[in-house]
Amino acid sequence: MAVLPIRMIGDPILRAPAQRLDAAQLATPAAQAFVDDLIETMHAANGAGLAAPQVGRAWAIAAVHVHQNPRYPYKPDVPLTVFVNPTLTPLSEETAWLYEGCLSVPDLRGRVRRHMHVRVDALDRHGRPLSFEAHGLTAGTYQHELDHLQGRLFVDGVVDPASFSTWANFDRFHREAFVAEATALVARYGG
Ligand code: NI
Repeated sequence: MAVLPIRMIGDPILRAPAQRLDAAQLATPAAQAFVDDLIETMHAANGAGLAAPQVGRAWAIAAVHVHQNPRYPYKPDVPLTVFVNPTLTPLSEETAWLYEGCLSVPDLRGRVRRHMHVRVDALDRHGRPLSFEAHGLTAGTYQHELDHLQGRLFVDGVVDPASFSTWANFDRFHREAFVAEATALVARYGG
């Protein structure tokens, strides 16, 4: 396994739609080794999630794993989930404005509107069907990762540029208010 370099905003691979994999492609040792590297890289970077284009591969694969995450300590835990060829369906009109960041967008956070109830239909890393619902902040995490597979970054969804903040200034000026909002969202929607 290996920790892969993370591509930064401005790299065209982050703007290209990722390619779907068929079962035979996914089963190859190269694809399985890549999934292991994606997970290891996500963990090494303390990411809540990581999508294949962020490590230079235009494949429709992403991972999410949240466990006492130091970048986002208010996020509920999410077990390690690898998803391939995902589609996302909003399950209600309810939305919230979340403060997001991204390993491919250094030292910047901003407010993005996210659906609070979604369903994800995908394959797992072994090509088996995987469908689940996600709610609240966790729904936001999945929307962020699926956006990566469409060539979108969270900055595309920032409607109010005045919400952009460095991480240090988020801590200094915005964290307290947002953690109160995030805590209310967790209470209302769960993980
Ligand atoms: Ni990201």
